[in-house]
Amino acid sequence: MKKKLVSAVLASVMAASLLAGCGSAAGTAKTGASAETASSEETADTADTEESGEEAAEETAAPAGGQTVGIAMPTKSLERWNRDGSYLQEQFESKGYKVELTYSDNKIDQQVKDIEGLIADNVNILVVAAIDGESLSQVLALAKEANIPVISYDRLIMNTDAISYYVSFDNYTVGKLQGEFVRDQLDLDNAAGPFNIEFTAGDPADNNAGFFFNGAYDVLKPYIDDGKLVVPSGQTSFNQVATAQWDTAKAMSRFQNILGSYYSDGTQLDVALCSNDSTALGVTQAIGSDYAGSNSVIITGQDGDEANLANIVDGKQTMTVYKAVANEAVATLDLAVAILNGETPDAGLIASAGWDFECAYDTASYDNGTGIIPSYLLVPTVVTGDNMDAELVDTGYYTKDDQGYLHPVG
Ligand code: GAL
Repeated sequence: MKKKLVSAVLASVMAASLLAGCGSAAGTAKTGASAETASSEETADTADTEESGEEAAEETAAPAGGQTVGIAMPTKSLERWNRDGSYLQEQFESKGYKVELTYSDNKIDQQVKDIEGLIADNVNILVVAAIDGESLSQVLALAKEANIPVISYDRLIMNTDAISYYVSFDNYTVGKLQGEFVRDQLDLDNAAGPFNIEFTAGDPADNNAGFFFNGAYDVLKPYIDDGKLVVPSGQTSFNQVATAQWDTAKAMSRFQNILGSYYSDGTQLDVALCSNDSTALGVTQAIGSDYAGSNSVIITGQDGDEANLANIVDGKQTMTVYKAVANEAVATLDLAVAILNGETPDAGLIASAGWDFECAYDTASYDNGTGIIPSYLLVPTVVTGDNMDAELVDTGYYTKDDQGYLHPVG
């Protein structure tokens, strides 16, 4: 990701004018994929072992002032976190920091151990994407005692005062985009209906999952209330539709049961609203094997996972909400550098950083149980077969093969 060189004068003017809101327009967003080439130090292979949670081989780059960044990612079995980990590592190493990167195989105890290890290694700052947002209070109390600042990455870590900042996408908007997509595809404000819909949400241990579900449900609830939308299974609460660990097989099995119980009499399914791509993959498989209807079911997702983009090309999934995690890594880098320089970043970071993507500074939405956590929220994008090339290929995030299928860069 190239950052515009912003003169001190321009930065101060921008800081004054944009103090409360978003930074530069996303229209000129450069591809985070260029992060792949941004780091000249990116030479040594990182030998991070996914399932053992071992720490990655230490980077050879000379650290910025001897400083080290500890990065704890939840797992490699959910596609996006592979990209998050590599983009974060590349961004920090491109600025000369040493990086210790761990993946914890979606095992909560393993992630606690991995973070303990990073603290024992005296990292200068922690960037943590929690497996379970409620499970890190004790280990992060050790980080606080050691004066190690913690950035809660993508998923808000709860019930600990050790968190300095939160960097994510606007998670409620992710769901809202899914709900609005369904509303518009069915033309719910004008069509007679009724239409049948089922919901599949994410992991209850993931603070994001509730935001995704509520964002979508808040858009669609008025149509459910007036009978335009019907939920044959009757499953409309988050806990009824949640999917532990965002697991594809669990999502598929639950949806097979729903189809067997409520649709085997020929009832038409019009929409399967899924909060992300790993669950959408399971639901799509269930529809493929267990749904007898001849209609094309509207299926939503999130993340732009490779298999789901292929399903969109093949007409099996209708949309995904894309989040450019390459940009999330850039925002995290600049926030961490400011913290390590002894600053207390606020909205001014957005203006002075000169990012080529939109970001809002939020001091109202994310209370982690100990108080509001100041947050930097990037903006998600709806991707369909119609705009996939423009949003994903032309921006450099993916390449496209001869068969028209997309493959992530990095
Ligand atoms: C969420 C994340 C999403 C989703 C899920 C599974 O917290 O924000 O991108 O895919 O985890 O990784």
